[in-house]
Amino acid sequence: MKYIIPLLALTAFLYACKKTETVAVVDKAQRFSEVHRPQFHFSPPQMWMNDPNGMVYHKGEYHLFYQHYPDSNVWGPMHWGHAISKDLIHWEHQPIALYPDSLGMIFSGGAVVDEKNSSGLGTSENPPLIAIYTSHNAEMEKQGRNDYQTQCLAYSLDDGRTWTKYENNPVLKNPGYRDFRDPKFFWHEGSRKWILLLAVGDHAELFGSKDLKSWKKLSDFGKEYGAHGGVWECPDLFPLTVNGESTTKWIMIMNINPGGPNGGSATQYFIGEFDGEKFISDTDKSETLWLDYGPDNYAGVTWSNAPDNKKIFIGWMSNWAYANIVPTQAWRSANTLPRELKLVRLNGSLHVSSVLWDGVKRLSQNTKQLANLSIQDSLDLSREVVFPVTKSFLRGEIEAKDFIFVFSNSKGQHVKVGFDSKTNHFFIDRKRSGKTDFSAEFVKDIVAPRIATIGKIPFTLVTDVASVEVFFDDGLTVMTAIFFPEEDLSQLKIYSPAGVINVDSLTVSQLSSIW
Ligand code: FRU
Repeated sequence: MKYIIPLLALTAFLYACKKTETVAVVDKAQRFSEVHRPQFHFSPPQMWMNDPNGMVYHKGEYHLFYQHYPDSNVWGPMHWGHAISKDLIHWEHQPIALYPDSLGMIFSGGAVVDEKNSSGLGTSENPPLIAIYTSHNAEMEKQGRNDYQTQCLAYSLDDGRTWTKYENNPVLKNPGYRDFRDPKFFWHEGSRKWILLLAVGDHAELFGSKDLKSWKKLSDFGKEYGAHGGVWECPDLFPLTVNGESTTKWIMIMNINPGGPNGGSATQYFIGEFDGEKFISDTDKSETLWLDYGPDNYAGVTWSNAPDNKKIFIGWMSNWAYANIVPTQAWRSANTLPRELKLVRLNGSLHVSSVLWDGVKRLSQNTKQLANLSIQDSLDLSREVVFPVTKSFLRGEIEAKDFIFVFSNSKGQHVKVGFDSKTNHFFIDRKRSGKTDFSAEFVKDIVAPRIATIGKIPFTLVTDVASVEVFFDDGLTVMTAIFFPEEDLSQLKIYSPAGVINVDSLTVSQLSSIW
């Protein structure tokens, strides 16, 4: 909780400020067209959002819950907000699913379909959806106790529409750790039990259960592994089969804040084995693998029960370094676009790649295909594509030489996305992207190593009004960054700062709004 306590203090301060600041009350017709409101990324109807929670697929619907404070645009007493999608692109907002209670605020957690009704909370004809979340008891925290985070269960018997808290909560008590939270759980067929993971400060703890209601500790992982520049939060664990092979490995996701590769919050992962008791890492103790190098992808985990065993990931598109003070009023924060996680072998070593959810293509319009471009100095794409590139989807393949994509507006504000062949690094530069003075953290350099080694770089770039998501080398190097220009970044130029560069193919589409 090392980082939650300053957060609580900051929240109290911001909450006090809020009394004098009027939070814009938006009328329904205006909603989702406010300045900086993402047009095809999920954002809450109003007020504060952080981590995605309880993601579960059930009867053709993807449920997305999220950390939500409905009374303010800064972090505060957490609820679970709720939305449903049939395609992971269009969302329908639902009533709040879980409210704080006498056990505490409703912190992050997961959800599953209890297919065989192992919990006994539904019936075999109508198996329950089960959510387990952390109850964070602020009163106990104030009293100076360490055991204020416990794990509690709620179930739904109406396909996720309403939720009932289990009468004997908590289902997993706290043995005395200040950080003991963010349960994510799944059925492990090999050992015929449910496995639950918690983030416990500087490590993960694994628990087992037959009925989702009583949990026994199995093992610890991670004190000596990976990044430790901050507190570990929001874990996940699942198997992935290596692309084109029959080998299956287990992937553990562990979010960390601060201590990310570009400062603040980020998502690391480990590759290894899981035997029903312990996670054994193949990833070297000294090595840290990052799912996304950008500053704005945090607390992401995967959907439970997704069709075809796909591992679909979504993250919160912000960073605790400035999340509470970004320049939006009516709502705060959006999620990343969904991504499918894949395990790929490259030059003998394994990496998790993130591939943009294919359904995004359905929003494409005015698609323009260009081929065999040879760029000397620069190419003004705004002339070629004749639409504002504010909401754009670019795919293609470019030579692995220096290049810069520059998204700009008439005020000279811009966001750059590029590659520096000398350092073999990709970068995003948002230093002059508009409103930036709310945080010094926001204008730092953002760099990411190139992992692939071939001479061509396949790329996918998606820009919404306030974000860019960049997938280089089929998702081996990924970066996500938000920005707040004073006018839409509707112009696009590609620069070749070190001589002629060839772009083998380039497909540019405009993306329509989902709201
Ligand atoms: C991560 C986190 C979680 C916690 C939640 C509280 O962003 O700090 O560890 O459950 O947010 O809102």
